[in-house]
Amino acid sequence: MKITIIGTGYVGLVTGACLAELGNDVFCLDLDEKKVALLNAGGIPIHEPGLEEVVARNREAGRLTFSTDVEAAAHHGVLQFIAVGTPPDEDGSADLQYVLAAARGIGKHMNEFKVIVDKSTVPVGTAEKVRAAIQAELDLRSTYATFAVASNPEFLKEGAAVEDFMRPDRIVIGVDSTPEGERARDLLRSLYAPFNRNRERTYWMDVRSAEFTKYAANAMLATRISFMNELANLADKVGVDIEAVRRGVGSDPRIGYSFLYAGCGYGGSCFPKDVQALERTARGYGQELLILRAVEAVNDRQKSVLGNKVAQRFGADLAGRHFAVWGLAFKPNTDDMREASARVLLRDLLERGATVAVYDPVAMTEAERVLQLDLTAEQLARVRFATSPHDALSEADALVIVTEWKAFRSPNFERIKAQLKQPVIFDGRNLFEPSTMAELGVEYHGIGRSVLTHA
Ligand code: UDX
Repeated sequence: MKITIIGTGYVGLVTGACLAELGNDVFCLDLDEKKVALLNAGGIPIHEPGLEEVVARNREAGRLTFSTDVEAAAHHGVLQFIAVGTPPDEDGSADLQYVLAAARGIGKHMNEFKVIVDKSTVPVGTAEKVRAAIQAELDLRSTYATFAVASNPEFLKEGAAVEDFMRPDRIVIGVDSTPEGERARDLLRSLYAPFNRNRERTYWMDVRSAEFTKYAANAMLATRISFMNELANLADKVGVDIEAVRRGVGSDPRIGYSFLYAGCGYGGSCFPKDVQALERTARGYGQELLILRAVEAVNDRQKSVLGNKVAQRFGADLAGRHFAVWGLAFKPNTDDMREASARVLLRDLLERGATVAVYDPVAMTEAERVLQLDLTAEQLARVRFATSPHDALSEADALVIVTEWKAFRSPNFERIKAQLKQPVIFDGRNLFEPSTMAELGVEYHGIGRSVLTHA
């Protein structure tokens, strides 16, 4: 099937590459000439396991092309996926300017039936705006062409995007019950048929419900995390091990184990933005989403939990203190630093006068870029970008772990102890057992695990 993907960010590039892998003829449009040149030269602009190989294989097979040509893109695919960014507006609502510009680009050039598929996370009612934008362009050109607008939100996770796309838990598709909507349903059904062979994974619904489902899913997951973080903070006070509680609670099949890990807060491009956007949508309808407001507030506070624990242990004034920080990306297997907890930790430590040495397996370049935005020149001068986990440790008063990269999970504790001034570890992702740390002679500060450390 001929497919056009508009936008080669995370979602667009993964969707395009994976649909090509299934044998489709995919045309990816991006207005960023540099990015298109990079992709055409065999590079990829993001760090995502497995993606480079899929892109290379399909480019070589001639099933995947990248271009800045809006007209060619509009003519190519009967399915036109819109996968451009929807960054938060100043008021937290999703900024639709790129989505609507993509829609206008299609409307300016299409001459025959098209299905426009919204893959970007967009608020309820966006499909109608996309429809109006396309129709307005057709009217301007006095052209008659029918089209359908469908919603097919993407649920992939950064760091596991190819895997998530190729083995989806579910495919959510919203189509209208009009003749055009029925045509869209038939085309999307055959596009996704390879995923439904063993089990039907597609959930068909109306367009608005599909748009809403994506926000509801992310808001639910963010809620679980903030809820556990709030319990973990209480666990620290009352002498309870949140990890034992997590296992005890998660064993109830109605609750399940996933997304119950307490830590130093969630980050990334989706949860913070989508929680805010859903709150904003509700406010637009005169409703206050009280739970989500709390989810956001708890998460903001949680990002300071590591800095506070360090200050509690070493004093509010950290001048003359030096800390090693492991992990900068908002989660493992990505170089994405958007809303990363490490940014808040570093600001906290530097504002208190400390010096730091930081290390991340892939996010070092991105970290240098964002820290220039976050920090003053004087603060930045107190950050050393280390070349390895152990390089970061030399002469540090303590190690602070922010991201749970695999490489940090079984470190050489004897070497850590030898390098640190004193064996103190603050662990924002609860990677280690407090009892093991006690046996090793490490002073261990996890999140919500005080029962064992202080026993
Ligand atoms: C998320 C959704 O999972 C995905 O379905 C959606 O399409 C986009 O948003 P992503 O942002 O890539 O994906 O990352 P995810 O793995 O969900 O983690 C988000 C954040 O939550 C990370 O900062 C992670 O550290 C944190 N997290 C996750 C926790 O703190 N505890 C948990 O139990 C799980």
